[in-house]
Amino acid sequence: MNTEIISVNIQKGGCAKSSTVQILGEILGKLYNKKVLCIDTDPQCNLTTISGIELEDCAEHNLYTLLNGNSTLEECIVKATYYDVIPGSVWLSNADIAFNKIGKEQMLKEAIEGAEYDYILIDTPPALGLLNIMSLTASTKLLIPTECSYLSMVGLEQLFQTIESVKKYTNPNLELLGILMVKYSARTNLNAAIYDALNKMAAEANTMVFEAKIRETVKVREAQSQMQPLIEWAPSCSAMEDYKALVKEILPTLN
Ligand SMILES: Nc1ncnc2c1ncn2[C@@H]1O[C@H](COP(=O)(O)OP(=O)(O)OP(=O)(O)O)[C@@H](O)[C@H]1O
Ligand SMILES: [Mg+2]
Repeated sequence: MNTEIISVNIQKGGCAKSSTVQILGEILGKLYNKKVLCIDTDPQCNLTTISGIELEDCAEHNLYTLLNGNSTLEECIVKATYYDVIPGSVWLSNADIAFNKIGKEQMLKEAIEGAEYDYILIDTPPALGLLNIMSLTASTKLLIPTECSYLSMVGLEQLFQTIESVKKYTNPNLELLGILMVKYSARTNLNAAIYDALNKMAAEANTMVFEAKIRETVKVREAQSQMQPLIEWAPSCSAMEDYKALVKEILPTLN
């Protein structure tokens, strides 16, 4: 299978990485009838939780036990409503020490080899450690969500440097899909100024800012607090419309 593996990365916290993986998974799974696997590499396990999965239920089999060889891929896969999940674990916070061995960057790639899905989406922690390098090494594509803030732009600069290192040492084929504006509000001047600056940064990194921008809406938080898919909770809210537009924009560039 020609699986696209899309990592959603930025080390700045709260830039809707987990929400983006969740909602893209719902849209690809429900509206496009695709087989989707979402992987939670974050010790916070937010993606696992908002997918409606209880952490106690996956204490025995999760991404940590998969990486350390105590579980098989099949054992780790849990079904959410519209996609499958490899749940996270709090033990992943120990990854930099526990997995400090030759070939460590390749561990996730090797662990998911043979997974039969149309799309694999990887949620990553707000850091630039081993879990992020593993994710970028395992991926064919990278999507960068960013808030309309100055600090997010600082984070982007560091991420671009990491991407260059990953391309040089562990994954020369990694492609940057683009930069996604999240929690967007067109009304404020600050957003407009940051948007211009982001476009310049994107061009320098040979990528672009997506036309689709994800508007801020309380519906995302509401759905997550109820552990409901957004596509059920508020199927026509602004963020859902925006993520659908994003999928239309990226699909032609995917396998
Ligand atoms: N479009 C949106 N409108 C309003 N709130 C949103 C939107 N997208 C995400 N949020 C909220 O913003 C917060 C951060 O989102 P999320 O957890 O997806 O970010 P993250 O980048 O994964 O964070 P972390 O870096 O901690 O992993 C959450 O409370 C989420 O509900
Ligand atoms: Mg997250």
